[in-house]
Amino acid sequence: MNNIPILFSKEEIEDCVHKLGKEISRDYLGKNPLFVGVLKGSFVFMADLLRSVDIPCSMDFMAVSSYSGVKSTGSVKINKDLSEDIASRHIIIVEDILDSGLTLTYLKRLLQARGAASVKVITLLEKEVDHAIKPDYCGFRCNDFVVGYGLDYNERYRNLPYIGVFNPEAQKETLNGVNGILD
Ligand code: IMP
Ligand code: MG
Repeated sequence: MNNIPILFSKEEIEDCVHKLGKEISRDYLGKNPLFVGVLKGSFVFMADLLRSVDIPCSMDFMAVSSYSGVKSTGSVKINKDLSEDIASRHIIIVEDILDSGLTLTYLKRLLQARGAASVKVITLLEKEVDHAIKPDYCGFRCNDFVVGYGLDYNERYRNLPYIGVFNPEAQKETLNGVNGILD
């Protein structure tokens, strides 16, 4: 067990993702969009979002890294690239959370440079800070460092069915103490 307080419940997320899927279905009717999920954080959101999209579409994943722990390292590295040509495709980048916007700014430019017909961004969460890029579709806003529903703290908590607030101090006891669940 963990003591991560709920910020957005399973039901709230379900409702929000369903609405986003319907909105995208209306906007992209006849465009056969390619959803590009940014691994690993977007995998749960991507799976639910695509099941709420009811128009023809396809999907792929990219893996990039820009973070270690709770602080940005300030650089983006491609660990897994797309497996198909995206020239003339309508791309929707699917991201878990927009913080500094560094990752998404980099990815958007990269996919535009590869000749995509359009590149838009959907993010489940957006931090209430100034970022380099504005999402075209967004689920929730938050201020905290959050985990769950695909989001991690050092690779943990991705499997939580809700989005919760991660507080390193509060978690210390769970991580190291008598209840210790050391990975
Ligand atoms: P950005 O480039 O600063 O926008 O960082 C985006 C990436 O940082 C996200 O895809 C996440 O992997 C990670 N990240 C940023 N904020 C959080 C958070 O609150 N919880 C978990 N991961 C986060
Ligand atoms: Mg992460």
